[in-house]
Amino acid sequence: MPEPSIQSAYDLLERSLIYHRGRPVGTAAACDDRVVAANYNECFVRDFVPSALAFLMSGRQEIVRNFLETVMDLSGHQQVMQGHKRSMGLMPASFHVVGQGEEEQVITDFGDRAIGRVTPVDSALWWMILLRAYVVASGDDEFAAREDVQRCISNILDLYLRERFESSPTLLVPDAAFMIDRRMAVYGYPLEIQALYYGMLLAARELLVSSERNNKLVSDLSALSDALLEHLQHYYWIDRQRFNQMHRFESEQFGRDVVNKLNVYPESIPGWMDGWLNARSGYFVGNVGPGRIDFRFFAQGNLLSILFGIASGGQAQSIMNLYLKHWDALVGEMPVKILFPAMVGDKWRFSTGSDPKNVPYSYHNGGNWPVLLWPFVTAAVRVGRMELAEQALDITKKRLAQDNWPEYYDGRLGDLIGRRANFFQVWSATGLIIAHEVLENPDSRALLDRALITGEHR
Ligand code: GLC
Repeated sequence: MPEPSIQSAYDLLERSLIYHRGRPVGTAAACDDRVVAANYNECFVRDFVPSALAFLMSGRQEIVRNFLETVMDLSGHQQVMQGHKRSMGLMPASFHVVGQGEEEQVITDFGDRAIGRVTPVDSALWWMILLRAYVVASGDDEFAAREDVQRCISNILDLYLRERFESSPTLLVPDAAFMIDRRMAVYGYPLEIQALYYGMLLAARELLVSSERNNKLVSDLSALSDALLEHLQHYYWIDRQRFNQMHRFESEQFGRDVVNKLNVYPESIPGWMDGWLNARSGYFVGNVGPGRIDFRFFAQGNLLSILFGIASGGQAQSIMNLYLKHWDALVGEMPVKILFPAMVGDKWRFSTGSDPKNVPYSYHNGGNWPVLLWPFVTAAVRVGRMELAEQALDITKKRLAQDNWPEYYDGRLGDLIGRRANFFQVWSATGLIIAHEVLENPDSRALLDRALITGEHR
């Protein structure tokens, strides 16, 4: 019999199931009667990922397959958006089922209903990563080889590999294109999207069935993922040595062989960076562009970088050392802080559009999100930092179920239940389930290692 908090997490997961034509096809984002936002009863693609991993670990593969199929059939549902044709490779942020019997209908949100009309760039990336996880966990190669699934993979690649205006292998996206789906100065080349993009490219490479066209595509994917990896290593990674180099950057350098290629002025380095790194720590910065480095630490992007093998073995240790050094700021009373530091004052006013939900150290502006426990624990265990994984799990177990599974926590230490947080937020519960399984159950750990972790540690 599992401990009560784990059992109640499973109960919540069960309660959240969404059915279509009698089959479970997804999970609601929250099961709170007093939800803050109207769409929290929908199945969000990104929120379903931890549900899916929990289902895969408990042998309920068919739910994951139903979900993959349902979302695949939805692509192309929204054909026109403000006069331009939507690509078949775009996947919805969320969907829900209305009506009954013959009248049953799936309603989608491709960003056409969402607050701020944000584009869910991460959905198709997660879908591909999850498809691979499903195939690895279930051995159902036939599903991935099906004509409609192969077509869907190809549509996604068509969209995400399309030539645009970039001069780098990274993916250029509008603000709020991923888990942080409100204005938060995360336009351009946010780390989380780049990490997911890398994971998606590796997954697609394995999923494409062999044919003349696909073999050529596979070699393109390999070249692109190699270039992306190199780019992230060069432009995003920062440790004390690199920081020292930036501190003394010369600027306005013209030509191919210069050091400061993006023309980042050392004067743009924020004051809080002084003393933030020691000789043993490092991380991937949040965003990089012409004349721009966003030095903020984004948890999900860094943790996925460990899981997908973007970080080398040494770098993964340095990220974990950073957690150890700044435990209160980055984990505090509830794992894990989504980003650090929060934007305050005029920076908050202009960069969030004065968003009251995103005041400093709340919600996406440095709130603590229990769902991030799963990538944290999985990444820590992956690189042998058991003590950090266990500590994070212990803190969460003590409080999260008792607090009724809040969506997020507020405050520098993350010790207050989020002012506008939903309760019974499903990914808060699945985050705990996965973390618990990874630490307590060697079979689940091995399964996740095979199914989710794509890159090898160099
Ligand atoms: C909020 C979050 C988003 C999540 C959704 C459902 O909009 O910002 O990341 O997918 O809620 O939980």
